[in-house]
Amino acid sequence: MKVAVVGSGAWGTALAIRLCNNGHTVTMWTFETELIDRMRTQRTNPRLPNGVLPEQMQISGDFDCVSGCKIVVVACPSFSIRSVCRGIAPHLDADAVLVSVAKGIEEGSLLRMSQVVQQETGKPVVVLTGPSHAEEVALDIPTGCVAACEDRKLAELVQDAFMSDTLRIYTSPDAVGAELGAALKNVIALCAGVTDGLGYGDNTKAMLMTRGLTEIARLGVALGANKDTVAGLSGVGDLIVTCTSMHSRNRRAGILIGQGKSPEQAMEEVGAVVEGYYATKSAYQMAKKLNVEMPIIQAAYAVLYEGKEAAQVVAALLQRSKKPESEDCGWQ
Ligand SMILES: NC(=O)c1ccc[n+]([C@@H]2O[C@H](COP(=O)([O-])OP(=O)(O)OC[C@H]3O[C@@H](n4cnc5c(N)ncnc54)[C@H](O)[C@@H]3O)[C@@H](O)[C@H]2O)c1
Repeated sequence: MKVAVVGSGAWGTALAIRLCNNGHTVTMWTFETELIDRMRTQRTNPRLPNGVLPEQMQISGDFDCVSGCKIVVVACPSFSIRSVCRGIAPHLDADAVLVSVAKGIEEGSLLRMSQVVQQETGKPVVVLTGPSHAEEVALDIPTGCVAACEDRKLAELVQDAFMSDTLRIYTSPDAVGAELGAALKNVIALCAGVTDGLGYGDNTKAMLMTRGLTEIARLGVALGANKDTVAGLSGVGDLIVTCTSMHSRNRRAGILIGQGKSPEQAMEEVGAVVEGYYATKSAYQMAKKLNVEMPIIQAAYAVLYEGKEAAQVVAALLQRSKKPESEDCGWQ
């Protein structure tokens, strides 16, 4: 099948490699046109130094490289999805299916990435997400993801295109839940990093991750997601991988903030897209708009956007009023 991967960051590159290895005819579009010659000749990309670009993979800087493709994977950072999709839209085939893999919520509109892709291209969109560090996927390390779309046939099309002996793809009808899990786990990972930077322990992180999932589920339900999706690969799966690994830029940024760096310094030092930083603002606004209780998201917002001290914010979180663990625990 002819496939385009739009975006040559670590994730776009890893997916393009895997699609090539599955026998598809793959073109990878890059924003960094200055890297095209190097990628074509050296078959490497500095965004994913451990990945080898197969000889048959085409590299292009032109939006028209998506024409003739049945599947177009949109793998750019969330802040650029709208402009990139606007660029490729006129070149898409009538029956093209878009795959959205960016993890974020658009600033201002508060739309999920697949909604932005759909708005700009008018095409059906499948969400592909899960616990998947590009660095590991590029090395064929066993990984599981979920292809989520209301339309089962389209979810299965994407499952078939990506599935291999080491990349296992499940399907789900709950794109809303899958996408919210993907975007919000980055905020929780940033917070987990902050607690590491402050010198707190495994107990703290476990509490944060568990309560973080509760918040993701609450927002998901308010937006029509299935509450159970948080227990899947896009929810708890991605949360585990992001909160516990040094591959995670979100966690690394959080550690620097916990150690006393400003959010701006931390972003600069990490040097790659820290989606959790942007997602915090959007999630905070969504929670306010929908009147959903999300104290961890509020705390992250206070540290990242209101200049509050991380240690004081954590202390305030711990001193909130007493409550049962579950809102629907059965007590009257
Ligand atoms: N890295 C991973 O392991 C991983 C895994 C799953 C999902 N994702 C998601 O994939 C998305 C991309 O992340 P990444 O890790 O590949 O990014 P990256 O930090 O490795 O690279 C960012 C890329 O974005 C490009 N870029 C910058 N400004 C742009 C613009 N205005 N328009 C188009 N492109 C622009 C850069 O040239 C670069 O190629 C993010 O939403 C991320 O959350 C990443």
